Amino acid sequence: MSERINIAVLVSGGGTNLQALIDACESGIIKSGEIKVVISSSPEAYALKRAANGGIKAAVVDKKKCAGREAFEAGIVKILEDEKIDLIVLAGFMCILSEAFTKKYADRIINVHPSLIPSFCGEGFYGLKVHEAALSYGVKVTGATVHFVNEIPDGGKIIMQKAVKICKNDTPKVLQERVMKQAEWIILPKSVELVSKELLKERR
Ligand code: GRF
Repeated sequence: MSERINIAVLVSGGGTNLQALIDACESGIIKSGEIKVVISSSPEAYALKRAANGGIKAAVVDKKKCAGREAFEAGIVKILEDEKIDLIVLAGFMCILSEAFTKKYADRIINVHPSLIPSFCGEGFYGLKVHEAALSYGVKVTGATVHFVNEIPDGGKIIMQKAVKICKNDTPKVLQERVMKQAEWIILPKSVELVSKELLKERR
């Protein structure tokens, strides 16, 4: 097996983006990195089942059980260090990371957001709320963005975007599904491979 960087995927819910990453590792779309661990902020996340089915180590750092964000992030850092992680991928991860955390892992954290940033992003724009905002504004095109994570919610450098048409009578749920299928699940694996390849080059 050729040299690969170590990837951690952080999740909170259904894990459809994690599934896209697992499938991309199996199909060879991702070949410069290996998912070493999935870390969930919730013990109920279906993403944990997907990790188990994919034979991938998983851990829970239960946000609700932690005494504040510092303790929560310390629990995550412990796992990242134990697993010697090079790249952190936020895939449906519903927690805002502190400035200290994003600086500690500067240019090593990427996130998928379900809109074409800078539209419909930042504080309060997550999950279905993003699609509700797009529909109520009346935009004809939306999509997804993969970006580096910094201290500004959805503010880091953009890596990749993919546009998705909005159809007549779209509901937020229907639109979310289309954006996931036609954009998120395509550009997140491609972005992970792009960044992993760059990180491998930096090693040499
Ligand atoms: C997706 O819309 C993703 O863009 C957002 O969270 C939703 C659920 O993601 N960040 P997943 O199914 O848990 O990967």
